[in-house]
Amino acid sequence: MAGLNAPIVYHTVTGHTKRAAEDIADGLRREGVSAHLQAADEIATWNVADVALVLVGSPCHAGSVALRAGIPGTIRSLLSKLGPSALAGKLGGAFSVHCAYGGHRAERAIEKHIASRGAIQRDDRPAGV
Ligand SMILES: Cc1cc2nc3c(=O)[nH]c(=O)nc-3n(C[C@H](O)[C@H](O)[C@H](O)COP(=O)(O)O)c2cc1C
Repeated sequence: MAGLNAPIVYHTVTGHTKRAAEDIADGLRREGVSAHLQAADEIATWNVADVALVLVGSPCHAGSVALRAGIPGTIRSLLSKLGPSALAGKLGGAFSVHCAYGGHRAERAIEKHIASRGAIQRDDRPAGV
């Protein structure tokens, strides 16, 4: 993992998801990964060409029952800019912050989307989560 270029893209309304992104970045940097935060609403053109690992984080909104319903528009619109194989061969992952329910579903929705763009994922969560 050392030396990998790893953007951590996040959307936040009240700051919690940014805080999670910062903690993830700290952990990755301790492993030698070149992690850097990118606010989704500040990305005009999302260039993933030189990226080895992409992490995308969103607060859970509306229980994340589906990609369209559960992910705030900023992240949805950013993901929609990815071409069909934009993430081919790259590692990808998602994280979400919530207060009651639906966080895992928000993650799943993001993961499904980035997997459809070719991202490789590793899922260590217990079955059923
Ligand atoms: C419009 C809206 C919908 C939300 N829906 C949910 C929800 O369905 N489930 C949940 O656990 N939290 C829900 N929340 C709470 C947020 O996920 C939670 O406050 C989160 O920490 C916000 O992240 P942020 O500080 O990065 O914006 C909702 C918040 C907002 C503003």
